[in-house]
Amino acid sequence: MSFTESIARKRDGLELAESEIASFVRGASSAELPVEQLAAMLMAICIRGMTERESADLTREMLNSGDQWNLAEDIPEAVDKHSTGGVGDTVSLIFAPLMASVGVPVAMMAGRGLGHSQGTLDKLESIPGFKVSWDRKGMLSLIDSCGAAIVAQTEEIAPADRVLYALRDVTGTVPSLPLIVASIMSKKLALGAGTLILDVKCGRGAFRKNIEDAKSLALALRSVARRSGVRCQALITEMDQPLGPFLGNAVEVREALEVLSGRGSLRLRDLSLRLAEESLVLAGRDRGESAETLHNALNSGKALKKWEEIVRAHGGDPDPDLLPKPEEIIEVRAAADGFLRSIDGESLGWSTVEIGAGRRRQDEPIDDAAGLEVCARLGDSIVRGQTVARILVGRRKVDLEALKLKVEKAFEIGKEEMSPPPLVYGPPEDLD
Ligand code: URA
Ligand code: CA
Repeated sequence: MSFTESIARKRDGLELAESEIASFVRGASSAELPVEQLAAMLMAICIRGMTERESADLTREMLNSGDQWNLAEDIPEAVDKHSTGGVGDTVSLIFAPLMASVGVPVAMMAGRGLGHSQGTLDKLESIPGFKVSWDRKGMLSLIDSCGAAIVAQTEEIAPADRVLYALRDVTGTVPSLPLIVASIMSKKLALGAGTLILDVKCGRGAFRKNIEDAKSLALALRSVARRSGVRCQALITEMDQPLGPFLGNAVEVREALEVLSGRGSLRLRDLSLRLAEESLVLAGRDRGESAETLHNALNSGKALKKWEEIVRAHGGDPDPDLLPKPEEIIEVRAAADGFLRSIDGESLGWSTVEIGAGRRRQDEPIDDAAGLEVCARLGDSIVRGQTVARILVGRRKVDLEALKLKVEKAFEIGKEEMSPPPLVYGPPEDLD
C-alpha cells in the first residue's frame, strides 16, 4: 500500500494497521517520506483520532525508532518530570534543583517550544553558556556531579518524535491525544528513569481545554508508563490562566530564581512543591515529612544553591545579571472596570511566540529577552486603565500596536465576580 492510501484511509476515519503506523514512523525518522505527507497524516490523526491499539503502536514504534538509555539501571532512584504544555509554566526550572537539593537525582529530557507553549530547553539556553546536548555518559556524569541533568533529546533518542514534534509545532497539529501520548512517552521510556511525575495541564492555555480531555490524557500517559514498569503519577492542574507571571525565556529563568529564593509567584511555588512532594511519595517517602523537607529547601536557600551548581555543571554562568533584558517594556491596560473573568492563555502564548520568545517557522531563531508579563489573575477586581500585562520587547521587529491590542483582548473583564478554579485538580481518580 502506498503511504498516500494510508493518509486517505485515516482521513476517512479508518483504523491504520500496525504496518502502516510503522511506515509512518520510519518515514519520519529516515526522511523517506516527504514533509507534506507527514504533515497530512498528522492532520488526519489530529482530526480523526486513533484507537487505543493504534495509539499503543504509535508510541512503541516511536520509542523503537531510536536508542534506549535505561537510566534506571545506573541510577534507580532518578526522577523525571514532564508537563503536557502550558504557558508561564516555569516549574521544571524549579523542580530540578528543588528535588536535587533534597538528595533525589533528577534526569529530565526536556523539550523546546511547542505551538503556543514555551519549552524548558529554550529557557535554559537563555543562560550564557548553558549546554543542553549531552549523551548518556554525559548525563550520568552531570547527575553524579550536581544531582540533576536537564538535556535535549539526542539525534538517536526517538528520532521520529524529533521530526514530528517540530512539524506539529508549525502545522496546528499539537492537541491530539495519541500524538501527545506517543511524543511524550516515547521520550520518557527511551530515557528510562524509574520514576515519572506528569503535570497534565487543563484549561484555556493548555492543549487539553476541559477536564474530560485532560483526564483522558492523564490516564493514557500514566497507563503507558505503568505498563512499562515506571512508577508514575499524573496530576491534572489548572491552565485557565498562565501559571506564573512571566511567559518567555530569560524572564522565566529570572522568575524561577525568585521562587528558589523563597519569593516569587505563589502559584509557581505551590505547584512545584506539590509535584516534588508527589515524586517523593512515589519514591516511597512519607508525605508529611516530604512536604516539610521541600519547604525548608526553598526557604533556606538550599535549592537556590543547588540551582547554581546545576547551571555551572551544564557549562552555564548562574549570575542573573547576565540574563538578556528586554529593550523596551510596553504596558497593556484594562479597557473596563469589573472583574477579570477569563484569560486567553493560548492567545497570550501565541503573542509570546510572536514577540520573539518562540518560533513561527521551524528555523527561526529565538529572542531570549522577549516575553510577556501577566499582571492580573482570574477573579481580580480591575480598574479601567490599570496594567494587566507588559510586553517585553526584544530585537524582533513586530507590529507592536496590533500585538498590544491582541494582548488586551486576551483579558475578559465582566461585571460579575468569579471565583478562580483550584490550582491542582489532582490525580485522575480525584475527578470521578
Ligand atoms: N510535550 C511533548 O513532549 N510532546 C507533546 O506532544 C506535548 C508536550
Ligand atoms: Ca543562548
